Amino acid sequence: MSTTLEARQQGQAYPVVVGSSGGRLPGFTQGRDRIALVTCARVLATPHGKRVAASLARAAPLAATVILPDGERGKTLAVLERSATRLLRAGLTRRSLVVALGGGAVTDAAGFLSAVFMRGVDWLAVPTTVLAMVDAALGGKTAVNLPLAKNAVGAFHPPVGVLSDPASLGTLPERELRSGLGEVLKYGLLRPELLPHLAARARAGRVDERTIAACARVKLEIVERDPRERAERKLLNLGHTFGHGVEAAGGFRRWTHGESVAIGLAFAFRLARILGRVGEEEVERVEAALTGAGLPVRVEASAARKARLLMAHDKKRSSAGLLWVLPIRGPRGWAVEWDVVADPTAVGQAAREIGRPG
Ligand SMILES: NC(=O)c1ccc[n+]([C@@H]2O[C@H](COP(=O)([O-])OP(=O)(O)OC[C@H]3O[C@@H](n4cnc5c(N)ncnc54)[C@H](O)[C@@H]3O)[C@@H](O)[C@H]2O)c1
Ligand SMILES: [Zn+2]
Repeated sequence: MSTTLEARQQGQAYPVVVGSSGGRLPGFTQGRDRIALVTCARVLATPHGKRVAASLARAAPLAATVILPDGERGKTLAVLERSATRLLRAGLTRRSLVVALGGGAVTDAAGFLSAVFMRGVDWLAVPTTVLAMVDAALGGKTAVNLPLAKNAVGAFHPPVGVLSDPASLGTLPERELRSGLGEVLKYGLLRPELLPHLAARARAGRVDERTIAACARVKLEIVERDPRERAERKLLNLGHTFGHGVEAAGGFRRWTHGESVAIGLAFAFRLARILGRVGEEEVERVEAALTGAGLPVRVEASAARKARLLMAHDKKRSSAGLLWVLPIRGPRGWAVEWDVVADPTAVGQAAREIGRPG
């Protein structure tokens, strides 16, 4: 069983297959002079990783397997240089295909490598984390980090296809899975009609084909209408302004991205309530969905203060100050709007509410 969605972006279309994807690989490798697999050791050691590697070796001229350092350590310019050199030595040309197998760090790094190697080669995304299946592998944003800032060097370079096999999530550590649920619930808050289904799945800790497809569809619709994040794509940053502050306040170690986003989502709804855009019921509903999934919605008061200071460095700013993505009560529960201005007193109050004593 599988669901195929069509992603349309900047005049190109590509399939996003959610479900058992084994049989789909050859369709992408046919007609290529060479294939390179870019992955990380942890993923390559999983049953799914081994299956994908074996299937590539059978079906195609697999010229290189590039193993990136795990996680963010794989998203550096130094690793990019080494990887590009490997591709060059393996004889890849512009008719070759790069297959990115792994979480969002691998799809970001391999996607960017594909964007710049020989001024652009095709790449296929085979995401293996919840976050990569519902977010990172979709929408064509690719990047590596600079020591000063995450994702500071990147390109828009959509893949030729995305193969998301939920069976690969079986080996994902529990905390990574739960972290991905933070992004899953974000889609439920962007589309309140999806919230009951997504919240139930998140509570059960189960991420299946239907859940991934539902979230992917929301992201793809938004990206199709606004590929370059000039307007509507900003909606995808719901919960991320304060969330990034929390992530930074924890030194990028204490809270995962998804946990920080969960706290940021609670923050956004509280801020919206303080601004009179939604009521207490909406805040309670959102917090129940997040805590039901085992995600945090509070931090210590000191961390909340620090997060507030750090989010002031967020890149989505205007001369009016920080611009927010916030819900407003509407016929289907609420709608979410972008570029909302909030006065600093309201922001301060929301931060105090999120900060529990401790
Ligand atoms: N391009 C975009 O639009 C976009 C959007 C959101 C996030 N991102 C990026 O995504 C990255 C985070 O991605 P992530 O949360 O997937 O983290 P990750 O890629 O670092 O993976 C998390 C950990 O899980 C391991 N792992 C991956 N799949 C596994 C599996 N199936 N079984 C066992 N272990 C597995 C990895 O080796 C790693 O240790 C960040 O760098 C972020 O900037 C990009
Ligand atoms: Zn995110």
